[in-house]
Amino acid sequence: MDKTIILGIESSCDDTSAAVIADGLLLSNVIAGQQVHAEYGGVVPELASRAHQQNIVPVVDTALKRAGVDKRDLSAIAFTRGPGLLGSLLVGTSFAKGMSLGLRCPIVDVNHLQGHVLSHFIRREEGDAVPEFPYLCLLVSGGNSQLILVKSPFDMEILGRTIDDAAGEAFDKCAKVMGLPYPGGPHIDRLAAEGDAGRFKFAKPSVGGLDYSFSGLKTSFLYTLRDAVKSDPTFIERNMAHLAASLQRTIIEILLDKLDKAVKSTGVTTVAIGGGVSANSGVRNAVEEYCRKHALKAFIPPREFTTDNAAMVAIAGYFKLKEKRFCRYDEVPYARTTIK
Ligand code: KG4
Repeated sequence: MDKTIILGIESSCDDTSAAVIADGLLLSNVIAGQQVHAEYGGVVPELASRAHQQNIVPVVDTALKRAGVDKRDLSAIAFTRGPGLLGSLLVGTSFAKGMSLGLRCPIVDVNHLQGHVLSHFIRREEGDAVPEFPYLCLLVSGGNSQLILVKSPFDMEILGRTIDDAAGEAFDKCAKVMGLPYPGGPHIDRLAAEGDAGRFKFAKPSVGGLDYSFSGLKTSFLYTLRDAVKSDPTFIERNMAHLAASLQRTIIEILLDKLDKAVKSTGVTTVAIGGGVSANSGVRNAVEEYCRKHALKAFIPPREFTTDNAAMVAIAGYFKLKEKRFCRYDEVPYARTTIK
């Protein structure tokens, strides 16, 4: 029987990525980052689109070569249709459409967030474990913090979401106040390993239900630093590691508090995490520890699949292709949405 071979393309923000998956097994996953934004302290959309234009042909070519796959053998091309930066999404979308027309193979559009949630189904080897439905996914990234009950690949119920900032924004904005480069999350992670997480206390939200809020923490962090610096200008410099560790611990406590409530209210036996913030060592350890304590199965993604990558787009595309959910050529990217 012929294999189902999917080429995935991801271009929603500032990483150009292409991956090849055959019958659910990952054959290649190539990611080209964009250094051009570093000096601006954030992603510049216009520059991101241009860098995607430069990267997309070599990235796709390399992914196919590494996979040992001839483009004429592709069963479908999956691409990220949103959410993300429109100019960036247009590059991947247009490329996928052009390639599909040239090869006469179908295209499937993928919701980036759905890709994160389904990234746990990427297998490197036949025996790799994948989650059973239903499972609870804590999706934490620069733009989203959501608790999702995943009932099937395309039946996802959002149980809670942030009402203001996302967890990644809390990391990045607080890191900025500390004078760290963008994105600050990985820097906080690194510094936190050396610090005392109990040294400083920051405000925690009192939001009802399963929703999150991180703006109060951000404000409390900002005021603590502002007041301290008034009497001691070297305060931040001297307390870098303690501030990072205390901030990280507070974010983890906020995340785990609602995760615990969601586990108890749904009765799930499997918990997964995904999105850029799931690369954080503290978050990974805390979720693993929580699952061990409550006898739950934990799915912690390899770091390669936590940030933007095309492997998750290809696996989501694989599920969609199985259900023959194709994309029309007149479909356009969307900048905003949660999981549909
Ligand atoms: O999912 P993602 O790559 O993209 C968007 O949401 O656009 O997530 C990016 C976020 C950033 O806020 C970044 O600081 C955070 O993920 N992040 C981390 C770590 N690695 C990435 N936050 C904390 N610790 C990390 N190790």
